[in-house]
Amino acid sequence: MAIQLGDTVPDFVQESTAGPVKFHDWLGNSWGILFSHPKNFTPVCTTELGAVAKLKPEFDKRNVKVIGLSCDAVVDHEKWAKDIEETQGAKLNFPLIADADRKVSNLYGMIHPNADNTMTVRSVFIVGPDKKLKLTLTYPASTGRNFDEVLRVVDSLQLTAGYKVATPVNWKNGQDCIIVPAVTDAEADKAFPKGYKKIKPYLRVTPQPNL
Ligand code: BEZ
Repeated sequence: MAIQLGDTVPDFVQESTAGPVKFHDWLGNSWGILFSHPKNFTPVCTTELGAVAKLKPEFDKRNVKVIGLSCDAVVDHEKWAKDIEETQGAKLNFPLIADADRKVSNLYGMIHPNADNTMTVRSVFIVGPDKKLKLTLTYPASTGRNFDEVLRVVDSLQLTAGYKVATPVNWKNGQDCIIVPAVTDAEADKAFPKGYKKIKPYLRVTPQPNL
């Protein structure tokens, strides 16, 4: 059965470019992003890993650890890392899991047999400090992901974990938020000292509360 939002994500031990990773211990108290890509030495994956390496300082600022995965051996990851640095101008600065035996891929349902029997699809699992799954994305091999979007959803997940707000369509960090419907107006008056605009009884807009 697929891992669902709110589930504790499966723990595992697997080889990586940073040595053996025991996933839950490796996460510690951080947020985490585990993402798979189909195969080493492939063009779209090369661009994705370069993009994640460039965004690493942004993930660090947000207390998010990133870890990639493909079903290739560590020795191949290390060779490919040189190509990534050469072609994308970014050194691989996060671990890559070497899931040659497909242990983690199968545990997390990253192989979708009707898309491809052997290669992992482009999965993203965002995990909270409580080890619970907060968000998943699944893209096919042919479509590279937008990691700026991954960073944007991290901002939303972290904000909404701490305040009774939700983020509206196309929201970006710094923009107004929605007060969740479960909060009464009387509660909102106390909880949102910057005030709020009541457009409809169910649509109340407030400045981002953590700024
Ligand atoms: C790529 O990363 O370019 C790729 C990998 C597998 C299938 C198609 C494209």
